[in-house]
Amino acid sequence: MPNDLLIAPSILAADFARLGDEVEAVDRAGADWVHLDVMDGHFVPNITFGPQVVRAIRGRTAKPFDCHLMIEPVDPFIVPFAEAGSDLITVHAEACPHLDRSLQLIRSLGKRAGVSLNPATPETVIEYVLDQIDLILVMTVNPGFGGQAFLPSQLEKLRRLKAMIAGRPIRLEVDGGITPETEGAVVSAGADVLVAGSAIFGAADYAEAIRALRRHAPDAIDV
Ligand code: DX5
Ligand code: ZN
Repeated sequence: MPNDLLIAPSILAADFARLGDEVEAVDRAGADWVHLDVMDGHFVPNITFGPQVVRAIRGRTAKPFDCHLMIEPVDPFIVPFAEAGSDLITVHAEACPHLDRSLQLIRSLGKRAGVSLNPATPETVIEYVLDQIDLILVMTVNPGFGGQAFLPSQLEKLRRLKAMIAGRPIRLEVDGGITPETEGAVVSAGADVLVAGSAIFGAADYAEAIRALRRHAPDAIDV
């Protein structure tokens, strides 16, 4: 059971004109994974980048690429994102009519498979695929934009998911509105991977910002 806390800076909040340098900077600052938000203007109301950009920055760090696909359909793009250098590929349950098949495809490519749930989606939709996933990504904002306010309604979902995981080697990731003010609540509720965009790239000192998010790492919690 993972009990270490991983920090995954979301490059959505980075300076896109200097994307490669920004990836190197968060690597040096202590990031565990690099979170890549892929949006299609259809499943979510915003557009970001495709596999070519993932490939272009792949050489700038050895840290795992945590690829969050907010696109529909997603199946035709899983192979291109895998080949571009993603290590984890997360699909949205709401965008996958055949979620079981999408997850099989990701794992067949030798990648770790994740499922993301929008705020209004109940945790029960992944009950029958639990043994096929390596990561659950709980959206703590409605996906599409950085800098939104954290939704406390998701804390109960995190607690329920933590119980459903029941010791399986599955990471529980949160994404949206994660700051030094909200990280304590999500870590207490069971999250063990924190995605943060504005809280890291909006800070003057990335290393200090990452340290601030680890304040309630499991071995730092006073019980
Ligand atoms: C939102 C994205 C997030 C976003 C988080 O749709 O999935 O990864 O970058 O940004 P912050 O940390 O600024 O809320
Ligand atoms: Zn994301």
